[in-house]
Amino acid sequence: AVLILLGPPGAGKGTQARKLEQEFGLVQLSTGDMLRAAVAAGTEAGKQAKSVMEAGQLVSDEIVIAILRERMDGPDCRRGVILDGFPRTTVQAEALDAMLAESGQSVSAAISLEVEDEAMIERISGRFTCATCGEGYHDSFKPTRVPGVCDKCGGTEMIRRADDNAETVASRLAAYHEQTEPLIRYYGDRGLLKSVDAMQGIEAVTRDLDAIVRDLA
Ligand code: AP5
Ligand code: ZN
Repeated sequence: AVLILLGPPGAGKGTQARKLEQEFGLVQLSTGDMLRAAVAAGTEAGKQAKSVMEAGQLVSDEIVIAILRERMDGPDCRRGVILDGFPRTTVQAEALDAMLAESGQSVSAAISLEVEDEAMIERISGRFTCATCGEGYHDSFKPTRVPGVCDKCGGTEMIRRADDNAETVASRLAAYHEQTEPLIRYYGDRGLLKSVDAMQGIEAVTRDLDAIVRDLA
């Protein structure tokens, strides 16, 4: 299966993709994570992406498509993938369709996580992640059981993203509405769109997603 999670920054794409990965054995492919890794490694793509990401704009289709294509070729991806944060433009959606067609595959479903903009600022500004295992948390909505200690691995180093500040979040939301929201129509026209009310709590959203994914299998 090839599942797409669509939704604005802070909708819960990463949170839910990690859960689906565990439950259904699918591989989470986050272009945001891939780009942050490229920035940290100082690759040519990373150098070009850094300032664009810090400004809350979209990295060029060319860079993102290349980075995703390379990762999708990995043998582990044969089990099925959850695309988290890709595609984000019509050009990327068309490139994905072409890429999948090469191996006789196609998109199984695009699931739109529906939320209100105002709530996203709050979700993003409270977010932090365990540096050791990558588990995501939130100051109010998903705190660690013991302050400063990861529930999953016991790690004590927590990180906050450079683009998670109020100013950048506004640009990220604007980029979503202008460039990514048209994809709701793109997948709707192809009969592939499913929607989930992502204003619900994390567990309720997971339940709705599970039902959709189980239906596809
Ligand atoms: P990316 O890393 O994809 O970030 P994003 O889309 O802005 O999404 P986020 O990671 O911020 O949010 P999320 O939906 O995953 O929410 P999360 O689960 O963490 O992209 C970053 C940048 O990279 C882009 O701006 C762009 O520059 C570049 N980029 C990436 N892909 C690209 C592409 N394809 N093309 C071009 N450029 C690209 O949840 C947020 C918080 O809320 C967490 O703390 C969580 O615990 C909490 N939470 C989650 N769900 C709930 C809930 N239901 N109730 C309460 N709290 C919740
Ligand atoms: Zn951890």
